[in-house]
Amino acid sequence: MSKIAVLVGSLRAGSLTRKLAERLTELAPDGMEFSFVEIGDLPFFNEDLDTDTPPAAWTRLREAIKAADGVLFVTPEYNRSVPAAIKNALDVGSRPYGASAWAGKPAGIVTASPSGIGGFGANHHLRQPLVFLNMPTMQQPEAYIGNLWGMFDEDGKIVTEGTEDFLKSWMAAYAKWVADHI
Ligand code: FNR
Repeated sequence: MSKIAVLVGSLRAGSLTRKLAERLTELAPDGMEFSFVEIGDLPFFNEDLDTDTPPAAWTRLREAIKAADGVLFVTPEYNRSVPAAIKNALDVGSRPYGASAWAGKPAGIVTASPSGIGGFGANHHLRQPLVFLNMPTMQQPEAYIGNLWGMFDEDGKIVTEGTEDFLKSWMAAYAKWVADHI
């Protein structure tokens, strides 16, 4: 069983990106176990706070990532980049120096947007810090999910034709990616 930490870039209570992340976990093949790691309560990274007694939320995040075999990022695009909450989580998890929680964890990225571009900018900006954090990040297949609004029915299933099949195959590829990199 591989344990996957899921980080969602939207903090909104009614987030469609979170719905998408939840549906992704349902479409995953057997052998994967998911835990959603909340990032909205993390104080902004500040080296002055990174003492022997850091904020409790930082410790929670770091331990959750260390306990995971892989990390799945599901995020909207903000201003052609990642939401600040995602970048802050990356910074928090990367410290203390020399003890990054992210190192070596196989990553997957799914971006989503109401537009047809599907969060391309966020998807590729996110890849930049993941290189430095030494996270092997699945390159293919890519997942840019456009037209997010109107995508779900009342049960959280995706009504857009072909999207569930695509997400299922993407998750199967990510499962293999994780298995090959842990
Ligand atoms: C956006 N949105 C957006 N969309 C996009 O495709 N490219 C972008 O650059 C931006 N920029 C942007 C900035 C900010 C500050 C906000 C709040 C929104 C729209 C964004 O894609 C949309 O709000 C989310 O997809 C909604 O997702 P949730 O919150 O339902 O998960």
